Amino acid sequence: MKRIGILTAGGDTPALNATIAGAVVRANQRKVEVYGLIKGFSSLQNPQVPHVHLNPLFSAIPELDATRGGTLLGASRNYVDARDQAAVEQMAARIRRLGLDGLVCIGGDGTLNGLQPLAEVLPTVLAPKTIDNDLGLNYENEPDEWALESTPEPPGYRYRRMPSRTKFDLDHMVNYATPGFATSVYVSVGGVQRIRTTAESHRRIAIVEVMGRHSGYIALGSAFGQPDLVLVPEHPLDIDRLETRVRELYELQKNVVIVCGEGIVGSDGEILGARKATQDPSGNLILTGAAEALRGLLVERLGDDYFRRYRRADTAQAAIFTRKIGHTQRGGRPILFDRFYAAMLGGKAVDMLLEGQNNALATLQYRRDRGFSVDSYSGNAFRDRWGLIHARYMHPSFYDPELMQPSRLGIEYLLPIFTNAIGHDDVEHMRQTTFDSGNLLRPYHSINTDVNKRIRYLE
Ligand code: F6P
Repeated sequence: MKRIGILTAGGDTPALNATIAGAVVRANQRKVEVYGLIKGFSSLQNPQVPHVHLNPLFSAIPELDATRGGTLLGASRNYVDARDQAAVEQMAARIRRLGLDGLVCIGGDGTLNGLQPLAEVLPTVLAPKTIDNDLGLNYENEPDEWALESTPEPPGYRYRRMPSRTKFDLDHMVNYATPGFATSVYVSVGGVQRIRTTAESHRRIAIVEVMGRHSGYIALGSAFGQPDLVLVPEHPLDIDRLETRVRELYELQKNVVIVCGEGIVGSDGEILGARKATQDPSGNLILTGAAEALRGLLVERLGDDYFRRYRRADTAQAAIFTRKIGHTQRGGRPILFDRFYAAMLGGKAVDMLLEGQNNALATLQYRRDRGFSVDSYSGNAFRDRWGLIHARYMHPSFYDPELMQPSRLGIEYLLPIFTNAIGHDDVEHMRQTTFDSGNLLRPYHSINTDVNKRIRYLE
């Protein structure tokens, strides 16, 4: 292989540049040219195919900085529709004209679905990323089972996850953690800790919503911030139990902090907040409003008198507030764990192409006796019997629904990732840059300005 392409698809994470940098380092060693495709698959959907040569003379361009969040290539949620043969053909022709012998797609489950048609026209591998930590399998050789059931309203069908019949073992997880997850949890933990002291001062109940779609990993990891209660989408909300716990805690300590994953569901299994469709081929939804929905339920159940009785607030509305960590958990400098393993996985993806692999993904494996290592896994093994790749759910045994906290196994899962996840340089970087006087004098210099000068076009 002389030349490969690389792209970043789906929602960004803080570790994308680290993955690209790892891939470029490996390609330099193996004397392979790397073309970065601008804004994910949308580059190949554009007749001009905007791209950047990332390693002229087998040396990385200076804009490629593994410690910088986001992606210097830009990202989009544009995907390839496998049924649109003409569009796939057009993309194949553009790939040929670029002279690419292989493609690394950095993405999550949506990207793994989206790259399937391309894997039929050139060797394509996936380097994983997602803050949601939902790309992987809970059981080696045994993907979660899904049932396809029809829905009367609106007419159509939907997937339902079936209970697993396999014994869960941490050592058998495929892709233990994805680059981006650790930094996202780091940001969420900081948010929870900061909300706490203000809730304490004003005798309030705070509901902090974190991202993660239908998977509760980020909410689980946020437990490092010591919220009183954690709610995850994998366990339907038990509102009676929640109310009891909130009353107990509020009476004891005059404040409560609840973390909820954005995809939490009610006892009927339906999403608690609002949702919007996206064009992502995994059928992913944009979820908004879980914390607000929860707040509505608690306001109704606790009522104003409960807060007036102790002169803690005039109304339940005033006492219970919500905050979203939001997109801050997707941006900024990646912490050491993410940077290091993202780079390893980027390098592994290049090796996989050079070894002749196709439709496969680089994975981060963990074994209790050996720690972390990178490996590869077949993309086909991720598909259900109808061909679709699903997001991984957090294994339900990671959570204790009684305590509304991570279970012993959940804690065992988290520790290898987060012990030493922050590097000395992360702390020093914050110390040196946050109040750098130059920040007040210089305008922000966007990476896009520099990369723009390097973009080339086919036509
Ligand atoms: O998949 C990553 C993610 O950040 C989810 O956690 C979240 O639901 C979604 O993307 C938000 O997407 P957008 O940035 O398009 O609003």
